Amino acid sequence: MKVDGQPYRTIWLEPDGWSVAIIDQTRLPHEFVVAHVNDAAAMAHAIRTMQVRGAPLIGAAGAYGLALAARADASDGAIEVAYRLLLATRPTAVNLRWALDEVRSVIANSPIERRVAAAYRRAAEIADDDVATCRAIGEHGAALITAAWHRKNDADDPDPRVHVLTHCNAGWLATVDYGTALSPIYVAHDEGIPVHVWVDETRPRNQGASLTAWELARHGVPFTVIADNTGGHLMQTGRVDLCLVGTDRTTRVGDVCNKIGTYLKAVAAKDNGVPFYVALPHSTIDWTIEHGRDIPIEERDASEVTHVTGRAADGSLTTVQLVPDGARAANFAFDVTPARLVSGLITERGVCAASAAGLLSLYPERGKGRR
Ligand code: MRU
Repeated sequence: MKVDGQPYRTIWLEPDGWSVAIIDQTRLPHEFVVAHVNDAAAMAHAIRTMQVRGAPLIGAAGAYGLALAARADASDGAIEVAYRLLLATRPTAVNLRWALDEVRSVIANSPIERRVAAAYRRAAEIADDDVATCRAIGEHGAALITAAWHRKNDADDPDPRVHVLTHCNAGWLATVDYGTALSPIYVAHDEGIPVHVWVDETRPRNQGASLTAWELARHGVPFTVIADNTGGHLMQTGRVDLCLVGTDRTTRVGDVCNKIGTYLKAVAAKDNGVPFYVALPHSTIDWTIEHGRDIPIEERDASEVTHVTGRAADGSLTTVQLVPDGARAANFAFDVTPARLVSGLITERGVCAASAAGLLSLYPERGKGRR
């Protein structure tokens, strides 16, 4: 996507051919800063502190992190240490484990003198694949937005815009490019479909208010930021045509784990007959897990709940305390939306039901005994 007219991915290899550049998302929306990552420990730090975040981007970052580790020491022992370091950074998004497994496997299957090149090649393929995958998700998902627009036109709705509610940031910043849930919105907008996005602020880290709002503004898509508790009211009063969110891990029966608060939006959508779609790449499906309750839920530092950072009137970034001194806080980062609340899964291979049969219809190679 473009920032001030210049095309960017969220992660790329520098011209030196080995060091990695990332957009530091902890500085957005107030500053656009490119950070440089030179070893696996620095990549682990970038993932843990959420300089890079979003399930597909965490995967690509982990892949490059392991390539950086191989450059320092490509022995089996050193690769194993780096693999474990990177895997421990964030527990919920399965893309991280998937990408690390991919790179570790090509390293293990290469002679020692070719391991570094093989690791970088696989990391680049994972990044390129994510771009193509997210673009395809956009094409498939845009058809749903277009259909909603036609329905509104046919019904002579006085407000022809399609109102999409989204949670967290599942845009290009959460992937290598295009995004998952936001990709269909970009495609539909570019095709001239009038789309307006309700952006959940997404406490406690405010990925909606800071990142989704920033992205949509850069692309010229109309949006309105809302407090997290607003979605139910908007759905009850007919002001949401569909919900569109991403996911960090989807089980083989279609249970969806995504940013905390997603489940409540799905409940409200079901109660109000609003379609609730989830967009995801193949790398987000965990074929080894059936029930959403078996997905590890990340718990982050309580300070993300008790404090908030923003720009002060003088332009400086300031952190302030929201709670009384000594107040305890809990910070569960994700929740699970059961498949029964999901209208459909939008993947790079098309749209399917959130069920084992639905997923297998798109990924038949994952059928019994072939996981
Ligand atoms: O904690 P984050 O910001 O990494 O969480 C991101 C999300 O929950 C996204 O919705 C998810 O990764 C899907 S992204 C394409």
